[in-house]
Amino acid sequence: SPPPETPILPADDPDALDQAVGILKAGGCVAVPTETVYGLACDATNPQAVAGVYEAKGRPSFNPLICHVDTLERAGSLIQLEDLGLALAARFWPGPLTLVGPKRTPSPVSDLAAAGLDSLAVRVPRSDTLRTLVQRLDAPLAAPSANASGAISPTKAEHVKDSLNGRIHLILDGGPCPVGVESTIVSVLDPTHPEILRPGGVARDALEAVSGVMRRPAQTNHSAPTAPGQLTSHYAPSASVRLNATQPEAGEAYLGFGAQPKREDIVFFDLSPSGDLVEAAANLFTGLRWLDRVSDRIAVAPIPETGLGEAINDRLRRAAAER
Ligand code: TXA
Ligand code: MG
Repeated sequence: SPPPETPILPADDPDALDQAVGILKAGGCVAVPTETVYGLACDATNPQAVAGVYEAKGRPSFNPLICHVDTLERAGSLIQLEDLGLALAARFWPGPLTLVGPKRTPSPVSDLAAAGLDSLAVRVPRSDTLRTLVQRLDAPLAAPSANASGAISPTKAEHVKDSLNGRIHLILDGGPCPVGVESTIVSVLDPTHPEILRPGGVARDALEAVSGVMRRPAQTNHSAPTAPGQLTSHYAPSASVRLNATQPEAGEAYLGFGAQPKREDIVFFDLSPSGDLVEAAANLFTGLRWLDRVSDRIAVAPIPETGLGEAINDRLRRAAAER
């Protein structure tokens, strides 16, 4: 079982990597930096290891995990990719794109990681650490975001520690995650009608430049989350969240975007003073966490729905949802 104090070690330290490999081979789980958010990685072929991840997160077992791999070849050994999937992979891997495709059978991936589905979500991350670990294990690594289920995703090693200390074996610290929101999940189950299941680190217009128009994410369905990550009250801070607020009201902390309010009396976190959506995405979860700690009411500035704004607004709507 994990130590009461989970150690944080530098991701670029060879001894720390050796330790991570040992833990993963023994069926444990390790928090690993990726370009999107920190992942809680385990050997996807080992059902006990996967069960340990669900357990550490307190995650409902119907919610399947993304398998991370080092190469397109390994991805192709897990799911069947046709022209469109291959074109998206060629353009965006390694990077913040997850492809859901038909799972090859027999599959080395445990049924628990795939939550018993015939499809599988696969991603080649930009993170050297995660790809190196996959290579050294010679197995895909299942890795959900490294936070307790339903909580805000971690973009720094200390966020992981705040959420999962004592529940996991090791945290590798690679500094703040440069993208800051999770990967975009695209289903290529129907190879002629790709569908965005979750907006994320690759913006819609960049995807559509490769694939043509993609279907919108399905509406939230409480009883049967087909595309998981669709549970409404996800990314929930404990504070209440009010969206599209051009001004904070008395007693509210303010998550701003672009111009600063000229007020001394409010707690304020600016996602991007210059109004840059890429910078805003990178700061989103740090800002939400910080305001959540200092206030029980958060007002959020309007964020444009273009580029990474689609992913940012998706996370903010979930943070504001009834719970
Ligand atoms: O950026 C990311 O995607 C991060 C990093 C660690 O890679 N991972 C991440 O994992 O966000 P997680 O578990 O928090 O979210 C994965 C999402 C879930 O909403 C899950 O339901 C969905 O992927 N998913 C996994 N397999 C699926 C499948 N076969 N069909 C549809 N959705 C799937
Ligand atoms: Mg998550």
